[in-house]
Amino acid sequence: MNVVLNNEWWRGAAIYQVYVRSFADGDGDGTGDLAGVRSRLAYLADLGIDAIWFSPWYPSPMDDGGYDVSNYRDIEPAFGSLAEAEKLIEEAHNLGIRIIIDIVPNHCSDEHPWFQAALAAGPGSVERERFWFRDGHGDEPPNNWQSRFGGSAWTQVPDGQWYLHLFSPRQPDFNWTNPGIHEEFQDILRFWFNRGVDGLRVDVADGLVKETGLPDVTDPNGPLPYFDLDGVHDIYREWRRIADSYSDKRVFVGEMWLPDPQRFAMYLRQDELHSAFNFDFLSCPWDATRLREVVDATLAAHAPVNAPATWVLSNHDVTRHVTRYGRADTSFSFADRQHRAPTSLALGTRRARAAALLTMALPGGVYIYQGEELGLAEVEDLPDELRQDPVFKRTNGTDIGRDGCRVPLPWSGDAPPYGFNATGTTPWLPQPANWRPSTMESQSGDPASMLELYRSALRLRHTESALGDGPLGWLPEQPGGVLAFSRGSGFACVVNLSDQPVDLPPHTEVLLTSGPLAGTQLPPDTAAWLHQETTPSSS
Ligand code: NOJ
Repeated sequence: MNVVLNNEWWRGAAIYQVYVRSFADGDGDGTGDLAGVRSRLAYLADLGIDAIWFSPWYPSPMDDGGYDVSNYRDIEPAFGSLAEAEKLIEEAHNLGIRIIIDIVPNHCSDEHPWFQAALAAGPGSVERERFWFRDGHGDEPPNNWQSRFGGSAWTQVPDGQWYLHLFSPRQPDFNWTNPGIHEEFQDILRFWFNRGVDGLRVDVADGLVKETGLPDVTDPNGPLPYFDLDGVHDIYREWRRIADSYSDKRVFVGEMWLPDPQRFAMYLRQDELHSAFNFDFLSCPWDATRLREVVDATLAAHAPVNAPATWVLSNHDVTRHVTRYGRADTSFSFADRQHRAPTSLALGTRRARAAALLTMALPGGVYIYQGEELGLAEVEDLPDELRQDPVFKRTNGTDIGRDGCRVPLPWSGDAPPYGFNATGTTPWLPQPANWRPSTMESQSGDPASMLELYRSALRLRHTESALGDGPLGWLPEQPGGVLAFSRGSGFACVVNLSDQPVDLPPHTEVLLTSGPLAGTQLPPDTAAWLHQETTPSSS
């Protein structure tokens, strides 16, 4: 069967993130792989997603889970082969699923042949010009920049020079003032587009260009000389021309954590990236006023550039939202990850269910991080010696890192590895002993499960007449702590974030709820999708 795919599909797509190492392990070595993904494509099609975004699948020493790429034109041998990736793309397309892959243009692996050549060639060489090699000041690095993973952003090599790495020392930054880097990435884009890849997720999209002269950071809370410089937009214009040169146009989604919505929207101008992750929404506490502000600010920032908003609750870098939403402070920030505050998973799960209906009802695209549809919580008690994240290592464990959201998925059975592989091999990160009720198998067919909630919501989302595709209009006169909006075509979504049950709007018929109603009322931390007989005016 060949499903017809629509060119503007990305505007309202539900995109499922596969973190390959942890999705499904086809060859039974304890690490997820492409064979595992291929064996579960039917599951993803049935879930009702429109596209898969693959975290990096390239050959990599895995110092940073694959965000340290040693060859941009092949597949990590532990994951499979290029031929297998091509088959996977074709099989997904036949099921109506698009493929987005991660591109990592800010840095590569220290094992990339270009970096190895730069080390060998020595100071002043053209090979070193592809990276940021500089002399230091005496024993001190060239400037005071800090790595996002802790410590200095510079590492010294035996001949005395230093190289820049905004992330781990095993991820040297490319020098994008070098035309050779532009040509290389243009070629890499074509390499994957020619193999049928529908889009690219751009890692650290705001980081590629550094301020001339590499000046010291003077105010760590002000604009930084290595993020969001204007020159970065020229790169995306080059890339957009390539994406648009294909008859079935290819798309980009940018990863930028930017405080200013206007600066953020500049990346989404018509000749740049198509969309970007909405981290303001992800970071927002479970609070009706704050969420409404974020929704309004998001839509207002995207409207002038005619780009769709995206709605994201979790990914492979952040504490899973079931855990976050069960805490006293429900916001997310990387700094807070150091504290590991207590959580109530029952409360977090109730809110996560309501949040799922909220995100899937908002106008734009929605991202689902693998395991979110199973309601997985962060695994917070991994033994330190098994943690792999360079964040944990570089901060001496002060920041616990991101391993807890990357634990391999539970598919079936009563005990680890829960069907992650068929051989019984222990996965690369250990799974909790209490995950039996969380498996795909135990949730399938249970109408009260998170999985069936996601299936029902995604199915309804696909039924145009059910959700409507109109602009968001807030329903007037709602009680405090309630988010309620319509989307045209008689559809409305109501989320109760207060601590009291509330009446549902009159003249409505319930399509789906995130939890049982209390009579005719919507309980706290519960959401409802409604069919409205009349559409109220927007406010
Ligand atoms: C963002 C990615 O999502 C994260 O996992 C990675 O560590 C950094 N970029 C560096 O590539």
